[in-house]
Amino acid sequence: MATEVKLSEGKDLTKIERIGAHSHIRGLGLDDAFEARAVSQGMVGQKAARRAAGVILQMIKEGKIAGRAVLLAGQPGTGKTAIAMGMAKALGEETPFAMMAGSEIFSLEMGKTEALTQAFRKAIGVRIKEETELIEGEVVEIQIDRPATTGAASKTGKLTLKTTEMETVYDLGTKMIEALGKEKVTSGDVIAIDKASGKITKLGRSFARSRDYDAMGPQTKFVQCPDGELQKRKEVVHVVTLHEIDVINSRTQGFLALFAGDTGEIRSEVREQIDSKVAEWREEGKAEVVPGVLFIDEVHMLDMECFSFLNRALENEMAPILVVATNRGITRIRGTNYKSPHGIPIDLLDRLLIISTTPYTEEELRSILDIRCQEEDVEMSDDAKELLTKIAKETSLRYAMCLITASSLACQKRKGKEVEIEDITRVYQLFVDVKRSTQYLMEYQEQFMFNEFPGQDDGDEETTMVED
Ligand SMILES: Nc1ncnc2c1ncn2[C@@H]1O[C@H](COP(=O)(O)OP(=O)(O)OP(=O)(O)O)[C@@H](O)[C@H]1O
Ligand SMILES: [Mg+2]
Repeated sequence: MATEVKLSEGKDLTKIERIGAHSHIRGLGLDDAFEARAVSQGMVGQKAARRAAGVILQMIKEGKIAGRAVLLAGQPGTGKTAIAMGMAKALGEETPFAMMAGSEIFSLEMGKTEALTQAFRKAIGVRIKEETELIEGEVVEIQIDRPATTGAASKTGKLTLKTTEMETVYDLGTKMIEALGKEKVTSGDVIAIDKASGKITKLGRSFARSRDYDAMGPQTKFVQCPDGELQKRKEVVHVVTLHEIDVINSRTQGFLALFAGDTGEIRSEVREQIDSKVAEWREEGKAEVVPGVLFIDEVHMLDMECFSFLNRALENEMAPILVVATNRGITRIRGTNYKSPHGIPIDLLDRLLIISTTPYTEEELRSILDIRCQEEDVEMSDDAKELLTKIAKETSLRYAMCLITASSLACQKRKGKEVEIEDITRVYQLFVDVKRSTQYLMEYQEQFMFNEFPGQDDGDEETTMVED
C-alpha cells in the first residue's frame, strides 16, 4: 500500500498482523431482535447459543445484574471459545473483558486465589471523571533510532510536536514507539498523549496536510492544528479496571508494571483502600462501576479451591459476569475423587446458566471453511472446498482448518493459482488426523515408549464430550 509510512527500517513486530484461530470473529452476528443471522460478523450457525449469548450481553450492557455466571458447554470445536470472542467484540471498548484459561492459574508466580482475584478485578471497570494533563499537537516528525544490535529490545527516538505557537521535541522510549506504531501515527497527524498513562489518541489529520492525497483514506478526518500550549488540562471520562488501579497504587513503577505484566501479588490492604476509595467516589458522583465479563476457558482445569472461590466471588456486589467454557462431560473434579457434570461442583453448577453448543452441519462447516479461506487469503476451487468440507465432517473442523494454509503452500509450490483437489489430497497424506494417527499407534504401539494396551485403563480418565 502506498499509504504506509515506515516508522523504522528494522523489523517492526507491531506491523505484522498475525492470523489467529478466531481472527475472523467480529461479533455475535445478531440482529436488533437478538436473532442470530445465518452468517454474519464471521459467525456461522450455532444460532441458539449465539442468541443466548446475545441476551447475556444485553444484561451486561444494562449493567443491572451482578454475579451471574454462564457455562458454554459442548464438544470440541463447536465454537465455545469463538462465541466468547464474539461477546468480547460485541461489548465494545468501554466494558472490560478479561480472559484466562483454567490452566493458567497453576503456572503463574502467585497463589491461585490471588490469580483469580486479579482476573475478577480485571473484569470490573470504574468510569471516572478526571482532570488530566494532555500533550496535544500536530506531529512534525517521528524519528526512531535503529538499535545498534539487531533485535535489541529497547528502541529510542524523538517525536516533534507543534501547535500554532510552539514546537517541542520529546524523547521516546520503547513503549511510546510501540504505541505510536500501533496507532499508525505519522507526521501530519494531530494527536493527544495522556501524560499519566502514555495513551495516545489520534484526533485526525492536520488541515495543512489536506493536499497529500495519497496519505489518506476515505474516512480521514481533518482537524485544525491546535493552538496555545502543547500541554493542556482537560476533563476526561475514562474507564479503568480495578486491577489497573490496584497495580498503579501498589508499586512505585506505577503503570509500567501493567505493560510488563509483572504485577506480582497485591496486598489486601491496597485493595481494601481502593475499594473504599471507589465507594467514596461513587457516593460523590465522580465514578460509576462498570461490571464487565470474565471468561475462563477450559474451566475443568480449576480445582476445588478455585471453585469455592468463584462461588464466593460471585456473591460480591461488584462481581462481573462470569462466562466459563468446557468440553468435558461427566468427569472428576480436579483435586478430588468426586465426579460431576463438566468437572464442576454441583453448588457452582447450580448458579450457572448453561448454553450448549452442538455439532455443525456440513453446510455450516463449509461456510466456516469459506470464511477461513478469506481470512487467510487463500483462493480455493469449489471442488477443493467440497473435499475439505468432507474432511472436516469426517475428522474435525480444526484439522480441516489447518489444511487450508498447508494446501495453499502446496499450491504455491506447484505455482498454481488456486488450491485444487490435488493440493488438499497431498497435504491430507502428509499430515494425519487423530483417527489415522490412532490407527497407526494401534498397529505399531510396541515400538513407542510407555505403551499401554487398549482397555487397560481404569476408566478414570477424563472424558471429553463426544457425539453419540
Ligand atoms: N459458529 C462459528 N462460526 C465461525 N467460526 C467458528 C464457529 N464455531 C467455531 N468456529 C471456529 O472453529 C474453530 C474451533 O472453534 P472453537 O475453538 O471455538 O471451539 P471450542 O468449542 O472452543 O473447542 P474446544 O472445546 O476444543 O476448546 C475456531 O477457529 C473457531 O473460530
Ligand atoms: Mg475452546
